[in-house]
Amino acid sequence: MICKTIVEGTTKVSVPLPPPNATFPPSAAAVFYNPEMELNRDINVAATAAFVERLLSRKEILREEIRYVDAFSASGIRGLRIAGEVGIHATLNDWSPDAFELIKENIKINGLEELTLATRKNANVLLHEQKFHIVDVDPFGTPSPFMDAASASVWSMLSVTATDTAPLCGAHLNAGIRKYAAVPLNTEYHSEMGLRVLLGACARELAKHEKGMFPLLSHVTRHYVRTYLEVIPGTKQVNRTLKSMGFTIHCPKCGFRGPVYGLAVHIDRECPVCGALTQIAGPLWLGPFREPGFCDEVISELEIHPLNTKDKAKKLITFCRDELDIPMFYDQHVICKELGASATRIETLIEAIKAHGFEASRTHFSGTSFKTDAPIPEIKKIIGALSG
Ligand SMILES: C[S@@+](CC[C@H](N)C(=O)[O-])C[C@H]1O[C@@H](n2cnc3c(N)ncnc32)[C@H](O)[C@@H]1O
Ligand SMILES: [Zn+2]
Repeated sequence: MICKTIVEGTTKVSVPLPPPNATFPPSAAAVFYNPEMELNRDINVAATAAFVERLLSRKEILREEIRYVDAFSASGIRGLRIAGEVGIHATLNDWSPDAFELIKENIKINGLEELTLATRKNANVLLHEQKFHIVDVDPFGTPSPFMDAASASVWSMLSVTATDTAPLCGAHLNAGIRKYAAVPLNTEYHSEMGLRVLLGACARELAKHEKGMFPLLSHVTRHYVRTYLEVIPGTKQVNRTLKSMGFTIHCPKCGFRGPVYGLAVHIDRECPVCGALTQIAGPLWLGPFREPGFCDEVISELEIHPLNTKDKAKKLITFCRDELDIPMFYDQHVICKELGASATRIETLIEAIKAHGFEASRTHFSGTSFKTDAPIPEIKKIIGALSG
């Protein structure tokens, strides 16, 4: 294996060089390393540090007792960064023999022998054998085959990456139904749909193990969805969690959308605005996907850690913090196209919606999108008026 050394945060790791002309170099290399995921890992350092501070402030556990597992470790970079940059014990697991050897070498390079443990197991076996306070699931594509074991293992925080955005967002409909037992809709808000399908699946997996969840932070960035869920055991917590599950109805004719809470629900198929036949997606998570206070704590951690993507990460988390807790954003361009109107600056539109007495905010999902409690006919009137 021909390797090069890279640095992320304050962690140095040896990663294999992919063969020249590979279509997706990270997967073509003997051990996976994707430099595009540095933002994800930087946020992981800050979010895990913020969560560890919360755990310590409750005075129920000591720092040296906290156990983190990077169940799909590849080069080891994710877990090594948690051990070296957050200062808690990390288990670095990968079933690949090449990855296992590289992880051990990277532990030595960073002098983290005391604070880490390398294991070579099927992640499902490890997670069913051992419990960890923080379980990080960062596999190839879908996390779905590992969610049962991860839910069994986790005590305090479950962090999940999903890179199978096409199934999650409805572009590969049947694959999405198979993996997540939910029907997604491929609309202009497909990125939020994907996040809510994933969160709904996490809630149901945790529920099987009598654990409830509070989403602390979630973001959809380019080709992946990432979420950090505080996990709290107990049937009351599960019952509370499942109250945030439901469906969304969408009118393909006028753009109406709206949540329907519950798992056994009656859904009127007629659009309440235009009478056309609506489409249904779900079951989905309809509750908040981040906690503003936690976002502030993550932003503070981003400030104090040396990170290459600091500014980008702060901007992203600030957007997440400030967006309204209303499921399913609108895209100004889609509405403008239907109306034959021209788009304005998104801030101008948001101010105009607020001036009409409604709530409105930007979203982290896309620069042309917004969230509001204004009904779709009002939104269209406001956009029409702005367009002149
Ligand atoms: C996307 S990579 C992990 C990337 C890594 N977390 C990072 O941030 O660089 C997925 C890794 O999971 C490993 N893997 C896939 N299925 C596994 C399983 N069932 N058990 C353990 N490891 C597995 C692969 O060998 C691969 O190294
Ligand atoms: Zn309609």
